[in-house]
Amino acid sequence: MSIPYLSVKNLSREFKAQGRTVRAVDNVSFEIPVGTTFSLVGESGCGKTTLVRVIAGLDKASAGSMQFGAPLDGRVHRTQMIFQDPYASLNPRWRVGDAIAEPITFQHLRLPTDVKQRVEDLLVRVGLAAADTAKFPHEFSGGQRQRVSIARAGG
Ligand SMILES: Nc1ncnc2c1ncn2[C@@H]1O[C@H](COP(=O)(O)OP(=O)(O)OP(=O)(O)O)[C@@H](O)[C@H]1O
Ligand SMILES: [Mg+2]
Repeated sequence: MSIPYLSVKNLSREFKAQGRTVRAVDNVSFEIPVGTTFSLVGESGCGKTTLVRVIAGLDKASAGSMQFGAPLDGRVHRTQMIFQDPYASLNPRWRVGDAIAEPITFQHLRLPTDVKQRVEDLLVRVGLAAADTAKFPHEFSGGQRQRVSIARAGG
């Protein structure tokens, strides 16, 4: 059997507040095979965001473990988050072109001279326009802002 992209084993996350313990994620295990799409579905408040925050390293598990599989074909695993609320996750003072360029530059995904073209291509791929690079997040609709976040995760 091939190594999964991600294995999560018996993962739990508890929050303690006002003397009470909330078990937001309770003993969750699953594997995501390489090259597949995985949907985590459940009612509001069941722990999806908490689980994904732990997987992304934004929070720590109370118990259990998780592991990303070995790199394939020399490529590095690159996991990107697209947050639930794009108005909270995009900096309102940054033009969207700069917001999309930042992870590309930070992770050295393109030569500096190619970053502008890559940003425009990503915007077009999510159904926006190359000229939108100069706009600020508040100039977009909610759905368009979410597409900006998707373009930003495209890197
Ligand atoms: N920092 C925290 N402190 C205390 N409780 C929390 C914290 N974060 C989440 N919770 C609780 O953990 C539970 C799971 O929350 P979570 O945000 O993971 O749900 P979700 O499945 O993403 O919901 P939704 O579909 O509404 O986004 C909820 O009961 C929530 O109140
Ligand atoms: Mg959520």
